[in-house]
Amino acid sequence: MSVLDLGIDLGTANIIISAGRGAVLNEPTVIAFDKNSERVIAFGEEAYKMIGRAPDYIAVVKPLRDGVITNNDMAQELIRLCILKVIGKRLINPRIVMCVPSGVTTVEKKAVVESAVSAGARTVYLIEEPVAALLGAGEDIMHPFGRMVVDIGGGTSDVAVTSLGGIVAAASVKKAGNAFNASIQRYIADTYKVLIGERMAEEAKIECGNMFWASMEKTGEVSGRSLVTGLPTKLKISEDDICRAITEDVDAIIATVRSVFERTPPELVGDIYDRGIVLTGGGALLRGLDMYITREFGVKCTVADDPLGCVARGTLMAFKVRDKLRNGFEKVNVSRL
Ligand SMILES: Nc1ncnc2c1ncn2[C@@H]1O[C@H](COP(=O)(O)OP(=O)(O)OP(=O)(O)O)[C@@H](O)[C@H]1O
Ligand SMILES: [Mg+2]
Repeated sequence: MSVLDLGIDLGTANIIISAGRGAVLNEPTVIAFDKNSERVIAFGEEAYKMIGRAPDYIAVVKPLRDGVITNNDMAQELIRLCILKVIGKRLINPRIVMCVPSGVTTVEKKAVVESAVSAGARTVYLIEEPVAALLGAGEDIMHPFGRMVVDIGGGTSDVAVTSLGGIVAAASVKKAGNAFNASIQRYIADTYKVLIGERMAEEAKIECGNMFWASMEKTGEVSGRSLVTGLPTKLKISEDDICRAITEDVDAIIATVRSVFERTPPELVGDIYDRGIVLTGGGALLRGLDMYITREFGVKCTVADDPLGCVARGTLMAFKVRDKLRNGFEKVNVSRL
């Protein structure tokens, strides 16, 4: 039987699996099933396209919300299907390192590990998101130097300082990509009296998001339902609109970074001052966010290469350094089903 190591980033927004040199699967964390027969109809990208468009008999579920598992059965099924998609028909019992959101309870962790086992995993390890994010960003976390990461995902933003392969101080806040989208929906409804969908808000954020040089020029367009006439309508929006909509959420992330700084020993704060803050996760792609954080703390903040893939890459890299990781990495024993 061949050996295969897989790294899995089970995120609120995306599930990414890495093997060998790169990502072998990258799908939205969405699953759709037939309510009558309870049969899975689609998962990942295919299911994502059904959001807000499915007939009554189909339930389109995001099994993770705000960094916690809200539908255990569907989360398990999604993980199993994704692993099987990667393994295919090969007779392989992979070793798997998984990263689960910080708010996941011990019972839920056990459930995701069990689903990996039911898909054929031989051994399963769990790793904490900031540790994986730093490894994936190419940071050397084994030396006695402080490193700070801010991972902005879909459900949570996780901030951590590491040194000597362990977490020294960390905090998590439920303000990330999904919260930005909800705030954009609210802002457009309050300001322009137009109700837009979640996916439209996501598109507007990606197209017009800018936290540092937000222009007033109306370069973007959203469509939705007018709250005045009840009819479909289109609306021009600017970067300034998006910036105003999400500033409060971004400032909650800034406050979390500050709280972690306050609990970090001074020597390590000095290291971070020299080395800078690393931004990972999909939220790191928000234009100008690095400059916003740099201005706030007077510490250089840089976006990691391929920030969306950092955690998945880091999970796989953790195999090589697992003996040196002090905390944030554990082997989970589950009996084979
Ligand atoms: N260009 C972009 N600008 C702003 N946000 C973006 C951009 N591209 C992706 N995102 C956001 O990144 C988020 C997904 O990031 P990521 O895949 O790191 O999250 P996750 O790991 O699934 O979530 P979590 O870590 O909270 O469980 C989404 O909310 C998405 O809207
Ligand atoms: Mg993540």
